[in-house]
Amino acid sequence: MEEHDKPSRYKSVALVIGVTGTVGNSLTEILPFSDTPGGPWKVYGVARRPRPDWTNHLPVDYIQCNILNEEETRDKLSKLDDVTHVFYVAWAKKSSEAENCIVNGTLLRNVLKALIPNAPNLIHICLQTGHQHYTGPSDSFGKVQAQPHDPPFHEYLPRLKSLNFCYSLEDVLFEEVKGNDTLTWSVHRPALVFGFSPFSSMNIIHSLCIYAAICKHEGMPLRFPGNRQAWDRYWDASDADLIAEHQIWATVNPHAKNEAFNCSNGDVFKWKDLWKVLANQFGIEHYGFQETDEKLSLVEMMKDKGPVWDEIVKDNGLLPTKLNDGSIWQFADSVLSGKSLLDNMNKSKEHGFVGFRNSKTSFDSWINKMKTHNIVP
Ligand SMILES: NC(=O)c1ccc[n+]([C@@H]2O[C@H](COP(=O)([O-])OP(=O)(O)OC[C@H]3O[C@@H](n4cnc5c(N)ncnc54)[C@H](OP(=O)(O)O)[C@@H]3O)[C@@H](O)[C@H]2O)c1
Repeated sequence: MEEHDKPSRYKSVALVIGVTGTVGNSLTEILPFSDTPGGPWKVYGVARRPRPDWTNHLPVDYIQCNILNEEETRDKLSKLDDVTHVFYVAWAKKSSEAENCIVNGTLLRNVLKALIPNAPNLIHICLQTGHQHYTGPSDSFGKVQAQPHDPPFHEYLPRLKSLNFCYSLEDVLFEEVKGNDTLTWSVHRPALVFGFSPFSSMNIIHSLCIYAAICKHEGMPLRFPGNRQAWDRYWDASDADLIAEHQIWATVNPHAKNEAFNCSNGDVFKWKDLWKVLANQFGIEHYGFQETDEKLSLVEMMKDKGPVWDEIVKDNGLLPTKLNDGSIWQFADSVLSGKSLLDNMNKSKEHGFVGFRNSKTSFDSWINKMKTHNIVP
């Protein structure tokens, strides 16, 4: 029997776009498990960089591809004719929302144009966007630029009348699947993501771990760099593994087809409680929120700490990373100075997804993973 005539040992073939990001990492951890719904899964993973060492243990066919480059994307992805499911969890940050819309729309379009005509077994596309669907874009201080919807957010709210890259992504998806009766989609809208990736520009766990490690190293208290509102109020978050489970659920559940869903942990937390977890993880005795006239900013506080971080990396034999990898401080400032904007998970539950996470345990466990992978001490 010729190689190509042999029946595949896989039932489904995933293409994860954004494999080095937080949810990309969770998908590539979970999809290959023998009991993952829809499996056994074969997994391709796409990112722009060369394969990082911390993904070496994952059974994924890694494809280095800049999906902003239409030709490169066509060359590399049109060959993947066995793909059955796309998990689109990529994102590129630009300096304005107008640019975010154009660039992110182009990334997704390049992928779908390369794949849809060449992957005859493709049956479902999961697209990840987020709460920005309901809030509109925010500036670097977390201030929203449009009048947001009133929380708790639910999926039946109309679009805001402002530019929003989440809408551009959805529109590209709808355009590209139009007229294709065998191809379904689902949109997943997480809250703040708790997950693992040293490369993500929006990984709050990574930023807070580095901040805490520097405070510990310098014998400084772990001050909460946000405002009183962020410290005291209720927040929700989305565990990256839960988001991956939610997307996998949508690929196998007939009731989840052609629908958009929120995807959060199903509980609420306060930063004051998580701050204690962070302080304990890094052995810091003095921590908390302190009312001051001057607003603390991680962008400012971390500005000159590059050499300190290099020393921490050297002293502890950590995986070499630079302090300013990924403009992470701007994102952390914007989260911790922003308003808590809750969603609800009723639609997912009504459609059959009953997964949840304890946000405090989730926060703690992702810090542990950062330590286990030698990213922070
Ligand atoms: N992070 C959060 O807290 C959060 C919260 C709510 C919603 N979301 C939404 O979730 C989505 C994904 O964001 P994220 O923060 O999870 O992403 P992320 O962790 O920063 O990951 C982004 C991924 O996209 C890849 N990528 C970017 N540009 C690329 C290109 N030109 N070619 C190939 N790969 C490219 C990156 O690869 P490289 O490493 O090679 O650059 C990386 O794997 C966004 O829509 C975001 O708004 C995120």
